[in-house]
Amino acid sequence: MKGVTVPRVRLTTMENSLVNLSSIEQALEAVLQTFTDTNIILTPDGEILDFKSNSSFFRNIVPSSIYNKRITDIFPARLAEQFGQAMRTVQQTGSIVPLEYMLLLSNREYWFDARLIPISDSNIMLIARDITDCKETKIKMERQVQQLSILRSIDLAIASGLDLNLLLSMLLDRVMALMHVDAATVLLLNSKTNLLEFAAGKGFHSNILQYTRLKLGEGCAGRVALGREMIHIPDLTKDRMEFDRSPLFVQENFVTYWGVPLMAKGRVLGVLEMFHRSSLKPDKDLQNFFVMVAGQAAIAIDSAMMFSELQRSNVELSLAYDATIEGLSRALDLRDKETKEHTFRVTDITIKLAARLGVKQADMIHIRRGAILHDIGKVAIPDQILFKPGPLAQDEWAIMRRHPDIAVELLSPVSYLEPALEIPHWHHEKWDGSGYPDGLRQEDIPFAARLFAVADVYDALTSNRPYRAAWSKWEAVQYIEEQTGTHFDPRVVPEFLDLVNTSNF
Ligand code: C2E
Ligand code: SIN
Ligand code: SIN
Ligand code: FE
Ligand code: FE
Repeated sequence: MKGVTVPRVRLTTMENSLVNLSSIEQALEAVLQTFTDTNIILTPDGEILDFKSNSSFFRNIVPSSIYNKRITDIFPARLAEQFGQAMRTVQQTGSIVPLEYMLLLSNREYWFDARLIPISDSNIMLIARDITDCKETKIKMERQVQQLSILRSIDLAIASGLDLNLLLSMLLDRVMALMHVDAATVLLLNSKTNLLEFAAGKGFHSNILQYTRLKLGEGCAGRVALGREMIHIPDLTKDRMEFDRSPLFVQENFVTYWGVPLMAKGRVLGVLEMFHRSSLKPDKDLQNFFVMVAGQAAIAIDSAMMFSELQRSNVELSLAYDATIEGLSRALDLRDKETKEHTFRVTDITIKLAARLGVKQADMIHIRRGAILHDIGKVAIPDQILFKPGPLAQDEWAIMRRHPDIAVELLSPVSYLEPALEIPHWHHEKWDGSGYPDGLRQEDIPFAARLFAVADVYDALTSNRPYRAAWSKWEAVQYIEEQTGTHFDPRVVPEFLDLVNTSNF
């Protein structure tokens, strides 16, 4: 609260208007002057009759410059309207009207809590208290709450091992809202090339920065990363620096630039950049918080990057898996030239059929591997049985029927192939339960094996075999249709026939 000594600007109308008041009212007037910053007496149409203020806001105003002016003329338009409205309410109702308003003076916001009070001669007294400190504290607290929630969401992102792209997108949203900037990017340091590369960006009119590749020390971001310190360029129009080399960048009309290094465990991971299309001067508090956010963000990015590195090495591992599988199936090809082509075609048909029947993408890899390996068990079948140019004898059949179980024996030590074993294991099961090796029926046969069986038989029939010549496509289709509900799943067959009709196999 301000001191009790009020600068007396003139021997005033206020005194004159108080002459008729009782001593109680004079006491009230003293209280008013003590606990308010500004008292103004207004005529019914808003002309200033008297004015007393110890508010720092009015301190620099020459009082004579506002006498006989309308208050609505000296206030900014929107506030003037608010005031005019409030004054009319006072006049119509004869009651006190509260009002809160903000005035901007030399770039600082001043907040006032005011009352409009009807007094004698239809005049109105405006009393106002400078609540700027209060308001700033409130704004600061609101911002701290917002800041806490931002930190919390980044922490949650770290804990949940969020995908890097999602994390960066969320980070940019939060940073742009917090700092009230128009655009922001994250550049990440590629540890192999040691170049800063665009990783995420928001708020740009063009995609110009997406091709950003900067050496350390090059461009603003490069200097931030090299110097490991924030760079703030308050006016890019005066200090265009490196950005000028791109005409599209000029079209973005950015004025303010901020770059802050993203550091975790003592390493620079990248740079967080902010751009604004007008001048922006965040206060010290906000700047400090921004640096803190960058620190948290870097930790989150670090853990998300480790996570995606893990996924990348999984991809590499998976390539190694597939090389192994192809190596395995080649062992079979060496004995039978036909097998390689058969395997290739059957795998292709099976994948297409699976896609039509809504098999999830994640399961496709297992279906593919299973199809490639489906007859791997035949490696253990002696040549004289496998290549016999006629029908098999009973004991030969007994051996031939073991090829699915042999596949499982052969492959089960390889743990990553476990989900791929359904096809090698059960591709000779039949819908009616008359198949082998386990005599499974209907839905007890894994779906992958059911759809593979259709593809396998179709391709076997349309191929030359040591024991018979290839059937025509038409004959094979006839056979598949006939076997619907006995050998084959009746749900799979129509989809297969449709596929055959629209393909050239
Ligand atoms: P594959 O030659 O790849 O045949 C796979 C499946 O296609 C067979 O499973 C059968 O369901 C169907 N299929 C193939 N050819 C014919 C055919 O001429 N008529 C009919 N109705 N269906 C056919 P299946 O029967 O369990 O046979 C498994 C494997 O046993 C065959 O694989 C093949 O390597 C061998 N095999 C089957 N029959 C004979 C045969 O008569 N002589 C010889 N040497 N091997 C045979
Ligand atoms: C950047 O700092 O985002 C790259 C801009 C540039 O120097 O071209
Ligand atoms: C198998 O034992 O054939 C593989 C197990 C499975 O595919 O679930
Ligand atoms: Fe087989
Ligand atoms: Fe086969």
